[in-house]
Amino acid sequence: MQQLNVTKRVWDRILAVKSGDGCMCCGDWTDGEAQALAVYGTLAHKDPEPLVFAQIGQSLDGRIATETGDAQDVSGSGGLAHLHRMRAVADVVVVGVKTALHDDPQLTVRLAEGASPARVVIDPDGRLPDTARLLQDTSSRRIIIQSVDTKRPAGVEVITLPRKSWIAPKEIVAALKDAGFRRILIEGGGITIAQFLEEGLLHRLHVAVAPLLIGSGPQGLRTGPVGTLAMARRPQMRVYDLGTDILFDCALAPSRVEVKHHAAHI
Ligand SMILES: NC(=O)c1ccc[n+]([C@@H]2O[C@H](COP(=O)([O-])OP(=O)(O)OC[C@H]3O[C@@H](n4cnc5c(N)ncnc54)[C@H](OP(=O)(O)O)[C@@H]3O)[C@@H](O)[C@H]2O)c1
Repeated sequence: MQQLNVTKRVWDRILAVKSGDGCMCCGDWTDGEAQALAVYGTLAHKDPEPLVFAQIGQSLDGRIATETGDAQDVSGSGGLAHLHRMRAVADVVVVGVKTALHDDPQLTVRLAEGASPARVVIDPDGRLPDTARLLQDTSSRRIIIQSVDTKRPAGVEVITLPRKSWIAPKEIVAALKDAGFRRILIEGGGITIAQFLEEGLLHRLHVAVAPLLIGSGPQGLRTGPVGTLAMARRPQMRVYDLGTDILFDCALAPSRVEVKHHAAHI
């Protein structure tokens, strides 16, 4: 298992990679800093085509909330700091409407240095109320993806896409690219992430496992079943110690970003 050491100097470099003012290939880093550059710098790098990555925090028994929807403390402090770093390297963070309704999240960056990303809710039937906190806070772009013609508050952008059983995740990525985004974080919940995973659109999947047992409640990723274990996806991955939680950083599709540092490649 690798240690991540997110020092100020390496985080500054990662933010410089995001702004296009810094590279991934030089620097005299400790092993822990090099790992941090590998994990976050790879996502921060801007390419012409979108990089789509997901993060989910779950319990030992694979739950992401309680039955009553309490998801506040599934991740420990290390897992939460990691989540905020993921937001900080993203241009945009996407959640499903069930997460927006249950958690009323802000989706801002508070536990790391860096700008908050734009916020997107996939809300096909227009269920999210105008009072939702992520719509109230005007500090970054707010976007709703919907299939109905529900009116939204002034300043909230609407992307209308057709729904069959689902809105095609590929169309969501294309629409977000058109809106100017390249680094796309799918933050949850499990239903939403699974859509992008099943369509082969995720470049990386981060699963942070926290040492608690919840027993019931929404499960993590809800991908379709496989007939035999031989058919199961077995992504290449690295495992990192976040202090309170363990991070599985999985490579799902060939990354377009070449990481030059010796310790930085999966
Ligand atoms: N621990 C964590 O990391 C974490 C992170 C996020 C959320 N959570 C918890 O997870 C729970 C919610 O997660 P969830 O998996 O049940 O739901 P979710 O993924 O938050 O939301 C799913 C809903 O979003 C809409 N949606 C998403 N993708 C769509 C698509 N491609 N096309 C059409 N509609 C789409 C649908 O809305 P409709 O139902 O309107 O059709 C769908 O039922 C909450 O309890 C929350 O607290 C935990």
